[in-house]
Amino acid sequence: MKILVTGGCGYIGSHTVVDLLNDGLEVVIVDNLVNSKRDVLEKIKKITGKCVTFYEYDLCDMEKLDSIFKKESISAVIHFAGLKAVGESVSIPLKYYQNNLTGTINLLLCMQKYNVKKIIFSSSATVYGNPKTLPIKEDFPLSTTNPYGTTKLMIETILKDLYQSDNSFDIAILRYFNPIGAHKSGLLGEDPNGIPNNLMPYIVKVATGKLPVLNIFGADYKTVDGTGVRDYIHVLDLSYGHMLALKNKKTGLKIYNLGTGKGTSVLELVTMFETVNKVKINKKIVGRREGDIDACYASCSLAERELGFKCRYTLEDMCLDSYNYVKNNN
Ligand code: NAD
Ligand code: UFG
Repeated sequence: MKILVTGGCGYIGSHTVVDLLNDGLEVVIVDNLVNSKRDVLEKIKKITGKCVTFYEYDLCDMEKLDSIFKKESISAVIHFAGLKAVGESVSIPLKYYQNNLTGTINLLLCMQKYNVKKIIFSSSATVYGNPKTLPIKEDFPLSTTNPYGTTKLMIETILKDLYQSDNSFDIAILRYFNPIGAHKSGLLGEDPNGIPNNLMPYIVKVATGKLPVLNIFGADYKTVDGTGVRDYIHVLDLSYGHMLALKNKKTGLKIYNLGTGKGTSVLELVTMFETVNKVKINKKIVGRREGDIDACYASCSLAERELGFKCRYTLEDMCLDSYNYVKNNN
């Protein structure tokens, strides 16, 4: 079985490619490397001893994308490719709409043309907006607060409409909570260029001395210690969720939250990071970041019941592995 992984050189995609190869599946990656590096392919080979077929194409280039489907006998698609920076999406919304929507529509048109009916799509907890109650269940109302989130919600709608028109499609929409952590080998992980937007990459940059201080965005939220609460999930557990979705015998259009079901505050995460890695994180409380919500964590009972999904890694693992990756790659 040959799986097309869009965005397979990226953070979550690369971990999933490793799991697919270790499971004996063939993998074709399409990635334009806009937010990743080619050397990920070598690292995947080092970990698995296996090669993937790689196309450095943009999903927005329909002709090139079509040529992949023409050449390879694709059985299913895991669709990670997309731009993902919330702040940037507010400054350059059209780029986000163009890249995420055009890329996805091209992909779905190719799938239709070549009769490839199974797709797993990377959605996000951001589609829940500011939830009224917690934990968040899949049937909660949906809304977004920025163009990035809107592209995710629009793609979910496109997938629902597609399924409505042709129910031989088999679609899994996975709504990720906050992925952190890295591969145990220390070869794959996340280390964005410049100043990170997300908490864990920022903590790691402070730990390695690349940035002087962690700004904690607000300590007056209605949470355990006033700082924002999120559901951090190890990227290896997230990747495992994709394997389960791929093998799920129940067909149709399915939507699953992938998180741990546990909320952790910014201060709790920082303290855990300091303890397990025996480092001090210089930090200061600053004002709230616009658009942030108090707390967000998942109910994962649907994924547990229907996919058998259960997280295997702890917050300690996430902190150890995130730091280990960046120390290994600097
Ligand atoms: P990433 O940026 O590391 O990986 C995305 C990959 O897609 C990159 O390698 C990039 O080069 C590629 N790409 C982007 N646009 C492309 C295009 N037009 N054609 C070909 N390749 C393209 O991001 P990630 O953290 O691995 O996220 C993967 C997916 O999961 C994204 O769709 C993201 O929106 C979604 N997601 C991520 C998070 C998170 O916090 N990391 C949370 C929820 C959802
Ligand atoms: N935070 C800080 N300082 C920082 C960065 C973040 O205090 O330098 C705080 C935030 O205020 C928030 C928490 O840390 O309370 C987590 O923030 P992240 O930016 O790491 O994550 P978000 O929950 O804001 O958003 C992330 C992705 C979104 C995605 C969402 C749910 O950026 O794209 O998770 O999956 F939609």
